[in-house]
Amino acid sequence: MARVHLLDDELINKIAAGEVVERPASVVKELVENAIDAGSQQIRVSLKDGGRQLIEISDDGLGMSPEDAVLALKRHTTSKLRSADDLFEVSTMGFRGEALASISSVSRFTLQTMSRDFKEGVRVTHEDGKTLSFPWQGSFGTSVTIKDLFYNVPARKSFMKTSAAEFAVCHEYLQALALALPQLGFRLLHNDKEIFSVSPLPVPDGWARGEQALRLRTQALLGEELAAKLIYIQHQDRHVRLEALISPPGLDKGTAKHIFTFVNNRWVKDKLLRYGVLRGYHSHILRGKFPVVLMHVDMDAALVDVNVHPAKTELRFQYGTEVQASIAMAIRDGLRQGAWGSSKSNPTTAFSESYSPAPIESQARQSASANPAAAANIPDDFDLILPKYAEAEKINKDEIASFAATALREARSPNVALDLSSAKHVESSGIKRTTMSFDTPAQVSDRASYSAGEKKSAPIYPHYPKADPSVEKKSDNKFQVAPSPAAHKAVPLEKIGAPMMPRIPAPTAIPLMPKPDLGIFEAKEISRPSKAETDIPWDELKFVGAFQRCFLFFEHGDQLLVVDQHAFHERILYERLLQNPSL
Ligand SMILES: Nc1ncnc2c1ncn2[C@@H]1O[C@H](COP(=O)(O)OP(=O)(O)OP(=O)(O)O)[C@@H](O)[C@H]1O
Ligand SMILES: [Mg+2]
Repeated sequence: MARVHLLDDELINKIAAGEVVERPASVVKELVENAIDAGSQQIRVSLKDGGRQLIEISDDGLGMSPEDAVLALKRHTTSKLRSADDLFEVSTMGFRGEALASISSVSRFTLQTMSRDFKEGVRVTHEDGKTLSFPWQGSFGTSVTIKDLFYNVPARKSFMKTSAAEFAVCHEYLQALALALPQLGFRLLHNDKEIFSVSPLPVPDGWARGEQALRLRTQALLGEELAAKLIYIQHQDRHVRLEALISPPGLDKGTAKHIFTFVNNRWVKDKLLRYGVLRGYHSHILRGKFPVVLMHVDMDAALVDVNVHPAKTELRFQYGTEVQASIAMAIRDGLRQGAWGSSKSNPTTAFSESYSPAPIESQARQSASANPAAAANIPDDFDLILPKYAEAEKINKDEIASFAATALREARSPNVALDLSSAKHVESSGIKRTTMSFDTPAQVSDRASYSAGEKKSAPIYPHYPKADPSVEKKSDNKFQVAPSPAAHKAVPLEKIGAPMMPRIPAPTAIPLMPKPDLGIFEAKEISRPSKAETDIPWDELKFVGAFQRCFLFFEHGDQLLVVDQHAFHERILYERLLQNPSL
């Protein structure tokens, strides 16, 4: 007798369900995606016990004919693909024709649907391998009810987490979808309590969702205050069209949970995209901190393969490197625009008032505290990203030695006085030391316009003037949102009187050797160096190391030089730009 035999359909479905249906959130995902593909405007999700007891998804989409509704429960039945060619250009959320078959094989399943094209609706049930159908009348659209998920797969059932944990994942997913698709309405209920409800928003014609829609949807889901501070960016090139809301520096979070990446409206946790986002923020964010980003990537469906995993949460890009670079560049440009004050109430000042670069003390504290809580919150896939990210961000020793020796020295002008007014004093562990940070170009040029010692909090990018109210977008639309950074006009440095050759504040050397009688570094404040002392012999400095990616340490004879890495990097970029404005 043959030992090899064909498995029956129900068993095949259960095996396949292992990949498609991992937990309640996977069911929510598959059913909501079906609703989206059916052209729905409003999608309602109701859960009980975190989805473990009940998941109910209703939509006002196309609905199905009674025949289609029965057929749809069979494996490999779909209305979304016709030929193999379609597989390489998927424009719908689903396409594999297996979600309903998988879900119905591991739950008590009911589907009710009525299409505008048919007079009769149908109710289809599936339980213990049996499918039954009955005539049914109701409103147009489809509703699917899943009871007792994994009731017949005890091993899977035992893997489900608590109601709260399962609900949190469902919530996160639906929230992400609602952020991805502002043109659709979503309502989420848990144990009959409404968690959120968002109505469809008007979006402009064309590929973009538009700043208004994105900002309003973000406001509804992530909070008004946050949404108002995010910067809207748009970018188009040969490979992608990007539209995003990104947080300005200083608004960072301890986890990567607030980085949402969408590709052709699909929420994906893709390393390549996330790395692109982090690259965009490279010197604008401390290690262990993450920005808030809602990045919409639209691209030719033929250039991205969604068919990597049955759950369709992984992608393969034909031009991955280019897509990643575009994301990084778009973010970097957006941050450089400096229009960080985008807000409803006062688009030009709201954020710049609340943001100021962390003083050196707090930067050190932030990064020095290893922040275990934050680290614990980093998703698994970030473990793989961070080392690479760190690698990419590592300041190259040669660059420091050679560039600093030439560019910085060249940039000095004999008629520029050394500015020591920004020396920062750090008290820690009983040791009083004096360090000097390199100012960012903006800080330097800004301070240059004040008289020495004047106490005035410096705007971050003074060469980007506050928005001219006359360029503020006028809109008859009932939704009033902040103008995009595009509304801000850049003004050349000369026009605002900023010196092209900024002042070069010099680091202060501190003695390396402790006094023998103390046995530790002596608590000693170093007097301000004379002009001659501050002429740093860059060629002779020996790079000894970095601390928490915040400070660089150089040795010169018996002296230790401490450099603020972030400001130093900014300075290098600035000097490069001065040397080659076409960069
Ligand atoms: N809410 C819905 N409204 C209208 N039609 C639906 C709905 N849900 C499912 N269908 C129909 O049932 C078919 C089967 O759905 P199913 O989710 O199993 O497969 P799919 O969406 O085609 O692919 P995938 O397995 O990748 O999700 C769909 O192709 C669609 O035609
Ligand atoms: Mg589907």
